[in-house]
Amino acid sequence: MQVTFHGHSVVEIVTDKAKILVDPFITGNEQCDLDANEVTCDVILLTHGHNDHVGDTVEIAKRNDALVVAPFELATYLGWKELNTHPMHIGGAHEFDFGTVKLTQAFHGSSYMDEDSKQIIYTGMPAGILFTAEGKTVYHAGDTALYSDMKLLSDVKIDLAFIPIGDNFTMGPDDAAIATEWINADLTVPVHYNTFPVIEQNPETFVDKLKNNKGKVMKPGDTVKL
Ligand code: NI
Ligand code: MN
Repeated sequence: MQVTFHGHSVVEIVTDKAKILVDPFITGNEQCDLDANEVTCDVILLTHGHNDHVGDTVEIAKRNDALVVAPFELATYLGWKELNTHPMHIGGAHEFDFGTVKLTQAFHGSSYMDEDSKQIIYTGMPAGILFTAEGKTVYHAGDTALYSDMKLLSDVKIDLAFIPIGDNFTMGPDDAAIATEWINADLTVPVHYNTFPVIEQNPETFVDKLKNNKGKVMKPGDTVKL
């Protein structure tokens, strides 16, 4: 399995069976090294409905005929936009032919801002994602505050975790360091920073703060092999 970070919360997972994009926010994301008009994928996994996570999902999914896996309400909304969707919800796991997806809790909001109609469309609960394939598990925390049930994730053998550190909308570096310790993944990569002025952070400072020494800063385009 190859996992590439593409800036903000965009993560690409390539297995022998599929290319998977998580939260493909490309247009308007100056941290992202992808081109929304050219990116390919078989599957899109979404943590929640905010525009900096749904991003270019509709265009990318239509062009690639990709399956979109998302929390129920968000999947329903995207299904109405004629995407091929698979709805799930928190605590539920499903074995797909490309791997197993389980949604975890995230303490945050979930809504889609329709800028054309100036409507806020609520899209249920936000989630984190545990993705397992080829004997490896990747955890994408989505957007979340620190919450004590994160300790339960230490029972899961997580090879690679993506944790938000931007503060303001999600955990900041101090809370993210506590979460990292609780989750105890083999490798933790900070995400969701420096995309907007209010979430400016130094990811190296965060990694240096980690007591378990298992942190790594990935620049957009960097790949980790699991
Ligand atoms: Ni959000
Ligand atoms: Mn966000």
